[in-house]
Amino acid sequence: MQMLNASVTDKANFYQGLNPYDLIETYGSPLYVYNERILKEKCNQLKNLSTYKNFSVHFSAKANSNLALLQIIRGQGLCVDAMSPGEIYIEQKAGFTNDQIFFVCNNISAEEMQYAIDRDILLCVDSTAQLEQYGSLNPGGAVSIRINPGVGAGHHEKVVTAGKNTKFGILPEQIPSCKEILAKHQLRLVGINQHIGSLFMEPEAYLAGVNVLFDIARHFDNLEFIDCGGGFGINYQKQTTDNTLDLAALGDELTKMFEQFAATYNPKIKFKIEPGRFPVAECGVLLGTVHAVKYNADKKYIGTDIGFNALVRPVMYDAHHDIEVYRKGDQRSEKTEAVTVVGNICESGDILAKDRMLPEIFEGDMVGVLDAGAYGHVMSSNYNNRLRPAEVLIRENGECVLIRKRDTIEQLAENFISIE
Ligand code: LLP
Repeated sequence: MQMLNASVTDKANFYQGLNPYDLIETYGSPLYVYNERILKEKCNQLKNLSTYKNFSVHFSAKANSNLALLQIIRGQGLCVDAMSPGEIYIEQKAGFTNDQIFFVCNNISAEEMQYAIDRDILLCVDSTAQLEQYGSLNPGGAVSIRINPGVGAGHHEKVVTAGKNTKFGILPEQIPSCKEILAKHQLRLVGINQHIGSLFMEPEAYLAGVNVLFDIARHFDNLEFIDCGGGFGINYQKQTTDNTLDLAALGDELTKMFEQFAATYNPKIKFKIEPGRFPVAECGVLLGTVHAVKYNADKKYIGTDIGFNALVRPVMYDAHHDIEVYRKGDQRSEKTEAVTVVGNICESGDILAKDRMLPEIFEGDMVGVLDAGAYGHVMSSNYNNRLRPAEVLIRENGECVLIRKRDTIEQLAENFISIE
């Protein structure tokens, strides 16, 4: 087998000697492949981010809530965030205990709130309206609030979650009304949280947000924790750049800030972060098959089975994912050329990579879409009545196991109720 453009998976020893063609033959195409060793390495990098004694990492499971991955993440000593009762449900199945789950919610119903209250799971509400709702449901309870520190960051406007143009968080000027609601329902505010956005590569905005959060924290006595949020970026263009987030420098800076704040507030205060993308993005590759190569006018299209139902990030955020090419036969690529890699969905916008320089590709080749472990399968859908891909895990010993079955065609009709 030839592996072209494959320096990234080579260097990471991603396939650990397994052949992507064999994986597709066994489990079908497209296929999400994860590597356990890489996942564990990433979890450990985050766990060691700060030397502050009461520091913990909550994995934001929205990035990937596959049961097996959650089990590994739990095994590495991380806690989790949830965004919905559904995430809480899976996290509990993965063995997380109630006190390891933090429900950072947005615009939830009373029933959804009650789901967490019944399980003794701490909530983080992000409006005075939701604080009021919590107070009526659980007077005297413990709660936390999400602050909008006014500083946002992110790789696309759709994922900037603080600042003026976002629905998230409680603004500093709303703190007096929060205090009134807390007092009215005798609520105990145990923590404050922020999440300024997704994917920063330079630490400045994150640290600025943390600074604002610390100033706001001083408005409250007896906080048990401060959660600084997620957003830690990874390099999606490893084939062409070396741009990585300097985790060590960020960690040193955070540790200094944690120590200083604790010294003047409460030496026992806990600090948390809630990354989603960082631990899981690089442990995942989405494999697909090239079914048609064609020209339309001057443009060369590489037609694959990776439609935006399988990976929506390029379509939704113009996100870049590096692409590797795998070939069974010995046909040689004579050149590198600009091609547009597309999927099998009936929309012109179904583009995985536009005008991308790749080695000459032939029908029957496979593509490996890199860094697909975060916001990949979790955002997949059955659009065009396509089946969501299976997920497999390459264990540390090199064995490959199925961790989620591909949808079946029968499932597509399961929830319909016929009127005939
Ligand atoms: N905490 C909260 C409250 C969040 O809303 C998020 C992500 C995170 C933590 C984790 O952020 P991360 O560390 O993964 O950046 N679908 C988009 C990303 C959306 C992120 C939404 N919030 C993408 O594919 O880029």
